[in-house]
Amino acid sequence: MARKLHRGQKLVIASHNKGKLREIEALLRPLGIEAVSAADLGLPEPEEDAPDFAGNARIKALAAAVASGLPALSDDSGFCVAALGGAPGVLSARWAGPSKDFAAAMALVNEQAGGNPDRRAWFVAALCLAWPDLHTETFLGRIDGTLVWPPRGGNGFGYDPMFVPAGGQQTFGEIDPEEKHATSHRARAFAQMLVSCVG
Ligand code: IMP
Repeated sequence: MARKLHRGQKLVIASHNKGKLREIEALLRPLGIEAVSAADLGLPEPEEDAPDFAGNARIKALAAAVASGLPALSDDSGFCVAALGGAPGVLSARWAGPSKDFAAAMALVNEQAGGNPDRRAWFVAALCLAWPDLHTETFLGRIDGTLVWPPRGGNGFGYDPMFVPAGGQQTFGEIDPEEKHATSHRARAFAQMLVSCVG
């Protein structure tokens, strides 16, 4: 049976990525769950060496739950491009290099995709909730869309400016953040977590 989180529960957000933290805090706020970030607690970032999103999410959530003695929520996510066989995928953060230069990472995606007429792209998010006794629950969300060039919009983070969700006209960098929070890969994984683990 799924383990529940309750109102007033303190939950560690096992991420040092400011864009993700902002989105996860916005999703948790209405639930009355008190979010504290791994960075605020001074927790180290574990090495993410699993081959898939769910495995990396598990590594991050377990490390934070064990180190803090509190339940922890992690997000491992990435941008996948059909013309690149699903890359950058789990390496999405690494394509931006140590300086986290996403303008350069987007230019690299565009260059590698070249003139390939297959413009399909998608974001994936794996959320993992872990408890200090090593119990974990993992939820996956995905949103499909199209690769665009040049990048458009200053909202969001990462690869948002080069992705138009299916059925839309604007990139994730152009749409209102509220709208992204309601429809994104992260929101979809979050919705599943709510059904199973909050109440
Ligand atoms: P990680 O999960 O911390 O390993 O890194 C995920 C990387 O995927 C981020 O640094 C972004 O580059 C990219 N990414 C994940 N979610 C999003 C999103 O919602 N918008 C744009 N880029 C994202």
